[in-house]
Amino acid sequence: MKKTFLFLLVISFIYIIYSKYIYSPIIFKIRSDFEKPIVIKNIPKGIESLSSKGCASCHQEIYEEWATSMHAKAYIDPLFQAYWRKDNNIWICLNCHTPLQNQHEFIITGFEKGDIKKPITQKNEDFSHELREEGITCAACHVRDGVILGPFGNTDAPHPTRYDPMFKSTAICDRCHQVPSGKSMLYIANPCNTSEEFHGGPYAVKGYICQTCHMPEVERPMATGSPIRKIGQHLWKGGYSPDMVKRGLMFSLDKKINNGMVDLILKIKNSGAGHKFPTGDPDRYITVHFDVISKKGEVLKSEQSSIGRWIIWKPIIVEVYENRIKPHETKEYIFNYNNSAGDEIRVQVVYHIMTERAKNKLKKKYGLKEDIITEYKIFEDVISL
Ligand code: HEC
Ligand code: HEC
Ligand code: HEC
Ligand code: HEC
Ligand code: HEC
Repeated sequence: MKKTFLFLLVISFIYIIYSKYIYSPIIFKIRSDFEKPIVIKNIPKGIESLSSKGCASCHQEIYEEWATSMHAKAYIDPLFQAYWRKDNNIWICLNCHTPLQNQHEFIITGFEKGDIKKPITQKNEDFSHELREEGITCAACHVRDGVILGPFGNTDAPHPTRYDPMFKSTAICDRCHQVPSGKSMLYIANPCNTSEEFHGGPYAVKGYICQTCHMPEVERPMATGSPIRKIGQHLWKGGYSPDMVKRGLMFSLDKKINNGMVDLILKIKNSGAGHKFPTGDPDRYITVHFDVISKKGEVLKSEQSSIGRWIIWKPIIVEVYENRIKPHETKEYIFNYNNSAGDEIRVQVVYHIMTERAKNKLKKKYGLKEDIITEYKIFEDVISL
């Protein structure tokens, strides 16, 4: 009896310590710049609403590019929706995925006993459903109280404009793409460390910024009928674009076939990404496959390696290992096989948005309905022996 009581006491004690001081409902620390949504009280003169559709009437091409991007889908993205549900629709996610206050149904005025799980809310009279669907809409980056911020400041626009140096630096991306680690989170790097990876790497030294690669320059009018200028395309291609991912990498496969022994060396170089490959979302990873396939189609030998982050999420976050490829770094994978004529060796590299297991869990438990493609081949070679 006494023993059971003592046991229960210890368990309750551990539980209280864990839930009060260690457990966090989110996997990062809240930093002051994204702690609050962006408040826009005055819509710039000459603009009817904050909706990107209003900008489209003059900035058609930019609008069409933006509409293809994950920024435009940051709220409707089925993976975001499923993960958000998994995290009990906690408010903080919205400050980056729908950063304007007018995109939020409720305004947060405080927290019960400082607990971020228990926000005190008030209905938002300026909430717009349509605007929420636009995710990271034009106004999130361009509109502040009554003016449109931009990289020029001296354009002939029908709306007030103001030059902001942020547009030609990584600062505009850092708010959302550099996410810090919190207490009791044992990451090797921050949960999302893209800006830090970039600033410590070779492209920052060359004068690149995120926009150099993610908003490539073209010469064209920025608005219908306006003069030709150097404009940044609003594309932000990343892991959902096989072409972009392939552009970031260089593959080479050395083959040595000697006295019945096959030696393969696959080299993967991060030749074109300004940060680690992959970066950002810790779910992303790459697998490298060597498979020997007989004439009958049987798999005779198989080897697989992964490039990514290995994180234990519960009960506390511990990043055990990470081997992502730094800018300009090359990784080598060696495969040996006893040659038997007629077999084939298939070498493949596959990019994954997330594991099949994680995707199935989102389907089963968190309402993910769409059958989104979460993996694709980025390299393949078949060697016939
Ligand atoms: C995630 C932030 C972000 C969003 C969202 C965004 N822009 Fe931009 N915009 C930028 C940056 C950064 C530049 C500067 C690009 C450059 O010149 O390198 C820019 C530049 C511009 C320019 C000046 C031309 C140029 O490229 O320099 C116009 C016009 C513009 N954006 C309109 C829009 C419109 C319209 C939308 C919505 C359909 C939009 N932007 C959405 C970040 C954003
Ligand atoms: C009625 C047409 C019209 C609408 C609507 C409009 N713009 Fe513009 N915008 C222009 C023109 C014209 C320019 C200047 C073009 C030039 O001089 O090359 C401009 C310039 C800009 C610039 C560059 C400012 C600078 O000086 O760096 C940005 C950024 C911009 N617009 C964003 C937006 C956004 C965001 C919206 C929607 C909220 C929007 N615009 C709505 C016509 C419009
Ligand atoms: C207001 C927050 C915010 C800002 C500012 C922002 N981003 Fe994003 N970005 C996001 C979010 C959120 C996503 C992911 C949306 C999703 O997949 O649901 C994203 C996605 C992306 C992707 C696609 C990633 C992928 O998964 O393939 C790229 C590339 C990107 N952003 C680059 C940039 C660059 C470059 C800048 C600065 C010019 C920038 N972003 C500014 C929040 C932001
Ligand atoms: C030298 C070009 C270059 C620069 C500079 C660069 N990127 Fe990238 N980025 C890429 C390439 C190529 C990819 C696709 C390969 C990959 O997935 O890493 C990519 C992918 C991404 C992704 C998708 C995540 C992933 O890895 O699957 C995000 C998010 C992103 N970049 C954000 C940024 C931000 C933010 C900056 C600035 C701090 C930046 N990038 C600077 C080239 C660049
Ligand atoms: C500080 C800004 C920020 C906050 C807060 C934030 N995110 Fe994100 N989120 C991002 C950025 C930036 C990306 C793009 C990351 C990348 O690919 O590198 C992203 C990507 C994602 C993705 C991947 C989407 C895809 O299609 O691959 C999911 C899922 C996601 N976020 C869910 C959440 C949830 C749930 C929360 C709240 C617990 C949250 N985010 C809070 C900035 C943020």
